[in-house]
Amino acid sequence: LEGEPGHFIFFGLFTTCCPIMCTVELHVHLDGAIRVQTILDVAKRRNIHLPANTVEEMRQIIIVQQPATLTMFLGKFEEYMHVVAGDRDAIKRMAYEFVEDKAKEGVIYVEVRYSPHLLANTKVDPIPWNQREGDLSPDEVVHLVNEGLSEGERAFKIKARSILCCMRHMPSWSMDVVELCKKYQHEGVVAIDLAGDESLNCEANPEHSKAYEEAVRCGIHRTVHAGEVSPASVVKEAVDVLKAERIGHGYRTLEDQVLYKKLLAQNMHFEMCPVSSKLTGACDPDFTKHPIITFRKDKANYSLNTDDPLIFNSTLHLDYSTAHKYMGFTEEEFKRLNINSAESCFLPEKEKKELVNRLYEAYGMGCSTAF
Ligand SMILES: *[C@@H]1O[C@H](CO)[C@@H](O)[C@H](O)[C@H]1NC(C)=O
Ligand SMILES: *[C@@H]1O[C@H](CO)[C@@H](O)[C@H](O)[C@H]1NC(C)=O
Ligand SMILES: [Zn+2]
Repeated sequence: LEGEPGHFIFFGLFTTCCPIMCTVELHVHLDGAIRVQTILDVAKRRNIHLPANTVEEMRQIIIVQQPATLTMFLGKFEEYMHVVAGDRDAIKRMAYEFVEDKAKEGVIYVEVRYSPHLLANTKVDPIPWNQREGDLSPDEVVHLVNEGLSEGERAFKIKARSILCCMRHMPSWSMDVVELCKKYQHEGVVAIDLAGDESLNCEANPEHSKAYEEAVRCGIHRTVHAGEVSPASVVKEAVDVLKAERIGHGYRTLEDQVLYKKLLAQNMHFEMCPVSSKLTGACDPDFTKHPIITFRKDKANYSLNTDDPLIFNSTLHLDYSTAHKYMGFTEEEFKRLNINSAESCFLPEKEKKELVNRLYEAYGMGCSTAF
């Protein structure tokens, strides 16, 4: 398909009529996908001083341009989280706008994740981002995000579900997170995640394990950030101890061939984020040597995702075009990986089938008998 005009249809996510624009995204952080304009607007309304006055200046401050470290990357959240955290309108607005942005990118189904605690200012200890104590609890944060997402779904005609994140460095929040997953599992929350700096806190804390055990018991789906910068042992632990059904990133799984073969055999889904993996320093900045190439060659089960488009100044289009340009992905492979993504999503079985069928239809592939 290389060089044929039709080839670029996949990347022409802009034409509304084009069926191949239908994609699925499974790994993207709500608080890493806020519009810069929204941050500026909210800061102005709340009289919060920012070191920049325009979108362009603010972008310069927030964006990671050169490969950094995961720890440095996580520091970027300090630049703006205090603006939106604790603010009801801001939280609902960013969820709503997120759906609009994804619809524009051609995404038809997205699972967006966040830590409710990091957006709250009461019933969270410690209160994050140096906020003063207020009256917005993690529970209400989830309620507001659900509202924003479902209003977005109705307005932009795509499906958006959410995943609630435990944080590696805050094990004391994890039981709360799983309780929120249970409470809101019929209002759009489909799974639990474990996020944060895995380079500093990679051993399975008993509090995280307990929360994941409860998730298993209650039929809450599970994904875990692992093997992004942490070693393969963290991936192993995510699978064996936390009973993860999907792995966030997982590049370093390749360092343990026994584990890798085992996960290939059991169809483990890897949520891969090419642009992110370069800018967080997780992978060799030379995309032609990227671990995804190995996963692809071995016909692994994976998706392509943005992770934090605000901080990487990226879109899903950039991840796809990167995979095409430097890793040799073809349009057929994009279709196949999106079908795998849909099959690995955390929707209830019936809705999942509908999604998979929609993709088959959009890709003109007819319905697979295997499915
Ligand atoms: C962000 O990306 C856009 C388009 O891809 C580019 O024009 C702009 O210069 C980038 N901004 C920064 C601060 O890197
Ligand atoms: C990916 O995982 C899903 C869910 O388990 C499964 O339905 C699908 O067949 C898998 N794909 C591959 C290529 O293993
Ligand atoms: Zn992530």
